[in-house]
Amino acid sequence: ATVGKTITCKAAVCWEPNSELVVEEIEVAPPKAGEVRIKVTASGVCHTDMYTKDGHDSEGMFPCILGHEGAGIVESVGEGVTSVAVGDYVIPLYIPECRECKFCKSGKTNLCSVIRSTQGKGVMPDGTSRFTCKGQEVYHFMGTSTFAEYTVIAEISCAVISKDAPLDKVCLLGCGITTGVGAVLNTAKVEEGDVVAVFGLGGVGVSVVQGARLAGASRIIGVDLNPDKFAMAMEFGATECVNPAEFDKPIQTVLVEMTDGGVDHSFEAIGNVNTMRAALECCHKGWGTSTIIGVAPAGAEISTRPFQLVTGRKWQGSAFGGVRGRSELPGIVQRYLDGDLKVDEYVTHSFPLADINVAFTLMAEGKSIRSVISL
Ligand code: APR
Ligand code: ZN
Repeated sequence: ATVGKTITCKAAVCWEPNSELVVEEIEVAPPKAGEVRIKVTASGVCHTDMYTKDGHDSEGMFPCILGHEGAGIVESVGEGVTSVAVGDYVIPLYIPECRECKFCKSGKTNLCSVIRSTQGKGVMPDGTSRFTCKGQEVYHFMGTSTFAEYTVIAEISCAVISKDAPLDKVCLLGCGITTGVGAVLNTAKVEEGDVVAVFGLGGVGVSVVQGARLAGASRIIGVDLNPDKFAMAMEFGATECVNPAEFDKPIQTVLVEMTDGGVDHSFEAIGNVNTMRAALECCHKGWGTSTIIGVAPAGAEISTRPFQLVTGRKWQGSAFGGVRGRSELPGIVQRYLDGDLKVDEYVTHSFPLADINVAFTLMAEGKSIRSVISL
């Protein structure tokens, strides 16, 4: 009944930087060619949403509808859409997978570039928005905008997943969990028996811990300034946890001593350039590899002595765990359904859309791992 028509529904609108989100009635236009309209049923709240909400994103466009860790059901599809059908369960992808651009065809990266420029400007690939509110155009965010009851995304941004999946849980595979697990399995390719250090034990860090456990790491050392994070990290598979504040020497020195010369793999899941340096320098000479996942403040720079690299340590990073969303996310969802991958455990809070600002406050205070908003 709604196919081809504009839908009026609720969304959390971010009218300007540094303001609370406001739940408004919005209009969502039908999907154009190559686009898909989705009934969003659940969305996690993640740091990148807060980053833009708080005005740190210099490219942020306002007013906009945030949210990039969602899941939903396809309501209608635009002209020429073949890979997604009405009724499909989907996870929107902030890194699409067109399978035709230089990046996709390389087979070496998940950083599909085909709609990057319009996505960064808050519009659909044709340069326009599908959202209006009170007569004003409202921008999209990260190509997903999941804090709305209905959203429109590109066909290439749809990962079609099993209809057995509970959307209020697997929405979290749209960002944080996949970022952490994928960094271990896809990017770093941790091997059985490896010794691993994980800097930061929030939602992303414990996902690294989980990935390391799946890879069969022999020691998984969690590093966090907040000891309240240790219990959960141990549940996810950490074998020990250390608090840098409890030592009078740099944490990299502590880790090198604990591990007979350094770790095989380290991961930075904080977004702090000092811990990025420590994560590199706790790696074993000759082969230790450090993978950066945390997003540092705009303009920040990393440093170390080049000798650290000359003597065989490697520094790398990945986005969305190196995962090609359309090809690989359905398998990750299946792994969760098979009981292989923990997801439910991340949901520390659930809220209706009306209480979305509470979820942001809890995240800012470090009190939640993940809040899931139901729409
Ligand atoms: N040393 C050790 N631990 C620290 C430090 C530090 N200097 N600073 C912060 N931490 C810890 C916090 O105590 C917290 O447990 O890092 C953890 C970060 O967790 P969250 O804030 O919950 O963040 P998370 O959702 O896991 O994301 C981490 O990954 O994707 C990126 O943008 C995201 O940069 C962010 C990072
Ligand atoms: Zn591509």
